[in-house]
Amino acid sequence: MPLWAGRFSKETDKITNDFNSSLGTDKRMYREDIEGSIAHAAMLAAAGIISIDDKNAITAALNGILSELEAGTLAIPDTYEDIHSFVEGELTKRAGDAGKRLHTARSRNDQVAADIRLYLRRRCVEITGLLENLRKVLNNLSTKYANTVLPGYTHLQRAQPITLDKYCGAYSEMFLRDIDRISDGLKRMNYCPLGSGALAGVTYPVDRQMTAELLGFDGICENTLDAVSDRDFCLELLSALSIIMVHLSRFSEEIILWCSSEFKFIELDDAFSTGSSIMPQKKNPDIAELVRGKSGRVFGSLMTLLTVMKGLPLAYNKDMQEDKDAVFGAFDTVEACLTAFIPMLETIKISSGNMRKASAEGFINATDCADYLTKKGVPFRDAYKITGGLVAICMEKGLTLETLPIEEYKKASGYFAEDVYEAVKLENCVKARIR
Ligand code: ARG
Repeated sequence: MPLWAGRFSKETDKITNDFNSSLGTDKRMYREDIEGSIAHAAMLAAAGIISIDDKNAITAALNGILSELEAGTLAIPDTYEDIHSFVEGELTKRAGDAGKRLHTARSRNDQVAADIRLYLRRRCVEITGLLENLRKVLNNLSTKYANTVLPGYTHLQRAQPITLDKYCGAYSEMFLRDIDRISDGLKRMNYCPLGSGALAGVTYPVDRQMTAELLGFDGICENTLDAVSDRDFCLELLSALSIIMVHLSRFSEEIILWCSSEFKFIELDDAFSTGSSIMPQKKNPDIAELVRGKSGRVFGSLMTLLTVMKGLPLAYNKDMQEDKDAVFGAFDTVEACLTAFIPMLETIKISSGNMRKASAEGFINATDCADYLTKKGVPFRDAYKITGGLVAICMEKGLTLETLPIEEYKKASGYFAEDVYEAVKLENCVKARIR
C-alpha cells in the first residue's frame, strides 16, 4: 500500500508501480533516511508536536531497523515505492501509532532533499580521501624522480626539457583543485531543507535550526520552495566529478602513450595490466584505457541532470527522481576509477634512461641556445633565427646542439663561445628554469 493511498478508489497498476519506483537506487540512502527521521522526531518532541514517549518509541524502532539492515537480517522488499516509504512502513509495523506520527510536519520532498545531501556528504569525504592518496603517490614519484629529465611536449612534439618531478607536480596541482572543488560544493550543499514540508513550509511550530544542528548541517535552507526544488548542489558535484575525470583521462592517455613501444618511458606492473587472447606478446594498459573511457559516463550524468532540471517549474516535480541515478552513478564511477588508478600508478616502472634518451634527440634545448645568445646581447628574435639555422645544420649532419663543433657555432654568430655547451646541457636547461 503506497503512502498516498487515501484518495484513490483503485489500486495502481503494476506498470505504474514499477515505473514510479525509485527504491532500486534510493535504498542506498537507508542510513541517511533513518538518521534524518531520528533527528526529525527529536525536534518534533522538543517542540511539543509529538510526545516524548512517541519520540522514544520511534527512535528505538528506527535504531532497530538500522542495525538489522546493517547486519543483513532485514531485507528491503522491492514492493515499496522508495526508501522513505519502506522506513516509515517498517517503523509503523514496529511502533504502531507513534510510527504514524513521524511524518508530521514533513513531506517526502524535504525528506529526500535532506537524505541526498547527507548521503553525498559521505561520498564527498570518500572521494576526497582517494584524491589525497593519489596525491601522495604523485608526491612520492616526484621525490624519487626529482632529477629524471624527460621531454616536455606541446602539440605532442618535443618542446623543452622538464623533470618528472615537475610533470607529477602538474597532476598533483590539478587533483588539489579537484579536492577544493568538492569541498566547495560540499560547503554550499550543507544546509538543511527539513521543515520545508512539500513546498510552502509547515503549519507546526517546528525548530528547523535544531534539526539542522542534529544532522551536522551548517544552517537551514532559508526558502522552503528553493529547499525542495533545486538540485544545483548535485550539479556542482557532478561538474567537479567531471573535471576529475578530465584530469584522470588525460593522465591515462599519457600513460597509454608512454607504455607504447614508440615511447617506452614506463612499464606497468603485471598485476595492473592485461593480455590479449590472440597475441601472446601483448601487455595492455586496460586500467588506463577504461578510466579514459569511463569519463564519458560521468560527463553524461552531468548532462542528464542539467537536462532534467532545465525546464522544471517550481517546486518539486517527479522528474527530479532521476537525480540520484545520475549523481550516485557518477560517484561510483569516479571512485572505481581512482581505486584502480592509484595502485596502477604506485607500481609503475619508470625508465629514466629512455626518458633521458628521448630528451637528447629532439633539440629540446634550442630555446636555451637562443636564450644564451640573448643573454649576451643578441635580440631574441635574431637569436631565435640563428639557433633555427643551427638546428637545420645539425639535422643535416646528424648532430645535436651538444655535439655540434664550436666552429659551426662561431660561423653562425660571433657571440658563441665554449660555454655554449654548458648552456645546452639538458640538466642545466632544467636547472635554469624557475620552478
Ligand atoms: N522517490 C522520490 C524522489 O526520489 C521521493 C520524493 C517523492 N515526492 C513526491 N512528491 N512524490 O524524488
